Amino acid sequence: MSEVKKIEKNILKLISSSKSLDELEKIRVDALGKKGIVSNLLKSIGSMNEKERKVKASLFNSLKDKIIQNIEKKKNLIYENIINEKISTEWLDLTRPTRPDNRGKIHPISQVTEEIIEIFSDLGFSIAEGPQIESDWYNFDALNIPPEHPARQEFDTFYVKNNSDIIAEPNVLRTHTSPVQIRHMEKKNGVPCRIIVPGKVFRSDYDQTHTPMFNQLEGLAIDTDINMSHLKWTLEEFCRAFFDIDNVSLRFRSSHFPFTEPSAEVDIRCSWVDGLLKLGQGDNWLEILGSGMVHPNVLNACNVDPEKYQGFAFGMGIDRLAMLKYGIPDLRSFFESDFRWLDHYGFDPLNKPSIHNGL
Ligand code: PHE
Repeated sequence: MSEVKKIEKNILKLISSSKSLDELEKIRVDALGKKGIVSNLLKSIGSMNEKERKVKASLFNSLKDKIIQNIEKKKNLIYENIINEKISTEWLDLTRPTRPDNRGKIHPISQVTEEIIEIFSDLGFSIAEGPQIESDWYNFDALNIPPEHPARQEFDTFYVKNNSDIIAEPNVLRTHTSPVQIRHMEKKNGVPCRIIVPGKVFRSDYDQTHTPMFNQLEGLAIDTDINMSHLKWTLEEFCRAFFDIDNVSLRFRSSHFPFTEPSAEVDIRCSWVDGLLKLGQGDNWLEILGSGMVHPNVLNACNVDPEKYQGFAFGMGIDRLAMLKYGIPDLRSFFESDFRWLDHYGFDPLNKPSIHNGL
């Protein structure tokens, strides 16, 4: 057998017994690479005489072609094997149901809280927080509601067992967010201030518009030159942004809270057309919050001089505002953890309405 035939037999054998693309590539490089055995043969043609060159050139070239063809064939075979292997080991069950869409939704209360915070932040208010289990002192006394005060009965208070008689010891679930006014103002640099206080509050009450736990947002602005017109402007700006209506019309109705003097309940103009609530128009009024100028006794309780400082405070129900804005009929449904309800009234976390994206 000639030398070339031997080389050919050897390489073709290697090709046919190779098992992987890597192995095949190595065979190709050994034969046809720069320093490959076949390449060397082809190079040697240059030093041959013409007669010999004619014979050898066609011999070497057909060897090269044969190797290339065989490698190509083997490559296809290996690919086929890889695919067959995949087909036999991997499989798809097309009869299975599709994956459930598990995206969560933002609860309307979280959404509305964020919207309110955003609006008041733009107006220069910062957020303050306080404990949910409060003392008589912070929840009532410091807010000018001493034990014998009749208003104390209106708060439907949940009491927490406490063995001490000291009014500064925690013993109630806070009935409103107003105690955080005190906690803020009594701090060293508590005033002047502009704060809002979102948070949970508790009252023993349960029907379509009352739940034992609900969410309030308190507002407090104290400075040396604040009067009732600032309160009015702030609340109008808030309503304009929150309800997204230009023609806000608010009515300040004289009222009574022990911690403000004068006090006003605030109503927003609205109409009911075919059972649909429209804000900013019509002849009806809907109560949305309580407010007033902070009572001097409250400032005194925080060691803030009422001769120098005064300001306004307001308190609104976050849940109630959410019901109004998004047409949610029953307050209790907020806290029932019904996923179908959340799916309907909740907000897409990636596509939330906000005053900045105009949704
Ligand atoms: N704390 C009052 C309530 O819960 C609301 C309020 C806050 C009223 C501040 C006036 C000023 O009803």
